[in-house]
Amino acid sequence: MCGIIGYVGDRKAKPILINGLLRLEYRGYDSAGIATMENSGIKCVKNKGRVAELENCEEINILEGTIGIGHTRWATHGKPSIENSHPHLDNKRTTAVVHNGIIENYVELRNFLTNNGYEFFSQTDTEVIPNLINYFYNKNEGKSKIDFLRAIKSTVEKLKGSFAIEILNNDFKDEMFVVRKDSPMVIGKGVNENYISSDIPAILSFTKDFYFLNDLEFAVLSKDNVEFYDINLERFDKQVKNIDWDMSSSEKGDYDDFMLKEIFEQPKSIRETIGARVSKNNMIQIDELEITKEYLQSVDRIYIVACGTAMNAGMTAKKILEHFCKIQTEIDIASEFRYRDPLITEKTLCIYISQSGETADTIAALKLAKEKGAKTIAISNVIGSSLVREADFALYTHAGPEIAVASTKAYTSQIVLLAILALYFAEILGCESEEIEKLKEEILSLPSKIEEIFDNTEQIRKFAKIISNEKDVFFIGRGIDYTVALEGSLKLKEISYIHSEAYSAGELKHGPIALIENGITIVGIMTDSNLVQKTISNLQEVVTRGAKTFIVTNQNLGNFNFDEVVKIPEISSYISPILSVVPLQLLAYYISKEKGLDVDKPRNLAKSVTVE
Ligand code: AGP
Repeated sequence: MCGIIGYVGDRKAKPILINGLLRLEYRGYDSAGIATMENSGIKCVKNKGRVAELENCEEINILEGTIGIGHTRWATHGKPSIENSHPHLDNKRTTAVVHNGIIENYVELRNFLTNNGYEFFSQTDTEVIPNLINYFYNKNEGKSKIDFLRAIKSTVEKLKGSFAIEILNNDFKDEMFVVRKDSPMVIGKGVNENYISSDIPAILSFTKDFYFLNDLEFAVLSKDNVEFYDINLERFDKQVKNIDWDMSSSEKGDYDDFMLKEIFEQPKSIRETIGARVSKNNMIQIDELEITKEYLQSVDRIYIVACGTAMNAGMTAKKILEHFCKIQTEIDIASEFRYRDPLITEKTLCIYISQSGETADTIAALKLAKEKGAKTIAISNVIGSSLVREADFALYTHAGPEIAVASTKAYTSQIVLLAILALYFAEILGCESEEIEKLKEEILSLPSKIEEIFDNTEQIRKFAKIISNEKDVFFIGRGIDYTVALEGSLKLKEISYIHSEAYSAGELKHGPIALIENGITIVGIMTDSNLVQKTISNLQEVVTRGAKTFIVTNQNLGNFNFDEVVKIPEISSYISPILSVVPLQLLAYYISKEKGLDVDKPRNLAKSVTVE
């Protein structure tokens, strides 16, 4: 949720930290702060609000140090304020800490420290960390680097919850200490300089070489070295990984907003996701998976587990998997799955979807399945993310960095990859091949069909203007179209703050139709020729009651009195969400713009939800 950044090198840390924080701001934007190591010791500047407010602080100009840490906050414990902003210092102001995650037992730790004479100045859970480090460090006889690491280790052993922590201490003026558990953090390796970040794009302009820290691994960064220590504080080596993301993919370029850029990138991101996995008249290639026919025949149930948009992609995938592979597939919200004691055996295959690969609930749900002996596959967009590292197998969507909080290109790439996965299983199982071949061809046609949809942008923008002052918008669809209705509704509420709900069209009469009144807007999605007449009937019922209608369809609807019909290219209904969602993404985008909102950073949200 929060963003963390760190720098050690020969250059002044401040501009690099600010640059990183601006790029990380989509992770949280309630307040921001940085601390640098100066000749006189740690100096810290923080402010409420966005990173720009921090830059405006006069005191920031005194920061000259070449080593520093920074943080942009998404408030959990304590309202957004200067006191609650990070970095937090211990009472002696010798240790500075920034933290991403949640310390669940902070009250108990606060009491322990208070009883030992420590004072607290914020409402945060984080403030216990620098004070505990200080407590343990003072108890140590020695004052060497390993003694300080011992103090960090003792602190970490007391913490319950999740954390990615960066630490500066006045006794180690050229070094920065880091440790993580269940919260993202990468180390960027430069030449005579090293970086920390909570994700790759924030430091991609400085380096493409990364180390990925596992849970409860410690690192000590100096300008020309990164040392790794395990939980016993034994040194070990780590392989550096080169990330070949194009820097321009994390820049806005000529677009006003990342979201619009990412919507228009979908032909490319889908092409990259398909890659060499699908080609006409050849078997699907997924080299990352080692799955046999015997194993698939033994699978009696697939669980797809995810949150938010990724869960909506999973709902579509359930239908594809069940149809092509004939394996019962269930879809679960990760935060429910992890606590509902799901029936998992060695015959269960669990697929986890997460753009960021850092969503706390999805990671916990994956760990649960592993404990119970199921095979796990992670689908993520971020190389080396925590989810990927936990799973038995990892498949990447290759959509490129997604910066806007509202997910667009990741969603379509997830469905593409899941459809490919379903066909891969179906081929291994020896299922009916004509339909498989046909869907492969349709998958390959997706990028050019999305390009065609962009021709409707102006039509969608005009309708967005008409309905931008609405209070409620309802989305309806049947079958696979219902899964898109859910995603369209989520997009709209996230970035326009208009209340919206999605209903399976057949459910309208069972209650929600009571909400329909003159002038209300209904968005109808109709791409399945078998169901289109049914949904038309449901739409007629709301039109009769005075609703405005925005329709997305690839069918010839005949002479019905709908207000706006966006025609999209024809495609198999199994993958139609990849096309039908595009007008809904654009609708949400233009409504948000019309209302003058910050599309990329909607209120109260953060890009990756790394806390429960
Ligand atoms: C998408 O628009 C949302 N911001 C959100 O629902 C998101 O999809 C969800 O938090 C899951 O994130 P993940 O894919 O990174 O796990």
